[in-house]
Amino acid sequence: MSEHLLEVRDLKQHFPISTGWFQKTPLKAVDGVSFTIDKGETLGLVGESGCGKTTVGRTILHLYKPTAGEVIYNGTQITPANIGKFRRDMQIVFQDPYSSLNPRMTVSDIIGEPLDVHKLYSSKKERDEKIAHLLNLVGLNSDHARRYAHEFSGGQRQRIGIARALAVEPKFIVCDEPVSALDVSIQAQIINTFEDLQKKLGIAYLFIAHDLLVVQHISHRIAVMYLGRIVEIGESSEIIANPMHPYTQSLISAIPIPDPDTARVKKRIPLEGDVPSPLKMPSGCPFRPRCRYATDICAKECPSLKEAAPGHQIACHNPHF
Ligand SMILES: Nc1ncnc2c1ncn2[C@@H]1O[C@H](COP(=O)(O)OP(=O)(O)OP(=O)(O)O)[C@@H](O)[C@H]1O
Ligand code: SF4
Ligand SMILES: [Mg+2]
Repeated sequence: MSEHLLEVRDLKQHFPISTGWFQKTPLKAVDGVSFTIDKGETLGLVGESGCGKTTVGRTILHLYKPTAGEVIYNGTQITPANIGKFRRDMQIVFQDPYSSLNPRMTVSDIIGEPLDVHKLYSSKKERDEKIAHLLNLVGLNSDHARRYAHEFSGGQRQRIGIARALAVEPKFIVCDEPVSALDVSIQAQIINTFEDLQKKLGIAYLFIAHDLLVVQHISHRIAVMYLGRIVEIGESSEIIANPMHPYTQSLISAIPIPDPDTARVKKRIPLEGDVPSPLKMPSGCPFRPRCRYATDICAKECPSLKEAAPGHQIACHNPHF
C-alpha cells in the first residue's frame, strides 16, 4: 500500500486539436507529470499561463480522462470506473468565485447541495447545523445561510466556495488559483483560512497559482511547470533560496522584495521571449528557445527529472547551482 495520500505517475493529457481538414494534432497540455502529496501536505504548482496547471488538477480528479499515466489515491489506482468512490474525498475550489457559484441560490442551498447528493444528514435540523458549522469554519456567520450568493463580496464568495468543498469532508482539495481573482488585501485572509483548515482537518492541497509569492507562503513543497512538464520540485524554502533550473531562477528573480537594500543586490534574470505553442514544441528541452545556458545536447534530448540534492529534483542538462 502506498504511503502517500496521492501519487501521480507519468500523467499525460493530450487534447486532440483540429489543425486542418480531417487532421488532428495532439496538444500536449500535460506530458508526463509525476509527484506525490502526503496527508495534510500542500504542494504548490506554479508556472506561466498555459503551462498545464489546471489540466493537471482536473485530470487528477478525472474531470478529464487521462491520456496516460496513473493517479493513485490512498493506495488504489483511480479509474473511470471507480472514480465515483473517490468523489467525496477529492474536491476542487475554483479561481473565480463569481462564476463558480450560482448567484440566485441561497448560501444554504449552495453548501447543502453536496450534503444532499451524498445524503450526509438524517433530518433538516442536522442539515442546518452542518451548514452553520461549515460557515463558521470558513469565517462566515450562520446568519449568512439565508442570503443569496450575489449579495456577497469576492472574498466572502470564495469562503462560500470553500465551505461547499468542505461539506463532504474531503481529504484532498485541488485549489485552482483560488485567490487570483481577489484583492491583494483579501488574498492573505483566504490563504490563512486554507492554512487554518489544514491544521484543524488535516486536508492535503494541490495549490495552483502563477504567483510564486502566494505559493511560497502556503506550500510545504513547490513544483514548477513549464509546457506540460515539471522542471523542478522540492521543499518550498529550498526552491526559493536555491533554485537550480534556469526557468525557476528567472521566476524567483522576478519576485518583488520589499527591502530596498536587498532589492538592490538581487539580480533580475529576465525571461526572454514567449512560451512556445504546445502544438509546436521545440526539439529537446522545451525551455531551450528561452534559455541562456542551452548547449547542443539541449536540442537533442529532453531532460528528465533527476535528484540534484536530497528531495530536490530538476530537469536540466546544465544545472546552475
Ligand atoms: N479542454 C481543452 N481542450 C483543448 N486544449 C486545452 C483544454 N484545456 C486546456 N487546453 C490547453 O492546454 C494548455 C494548458 O492549459 P491550462 O488551462 O491547463 O493551463 P494553466 O497553466 O492552468 O494556465 P492559466 O495560468 O492561464 O490558468 C493550454 O495550451 C490550453 O490552451
Ligand atoms: S536542459 Fe538546456 S535548454 Fe533546458 S533548461 Fe537546461 S540548460 Fe536550458
Ligand atoms: Mg489554470
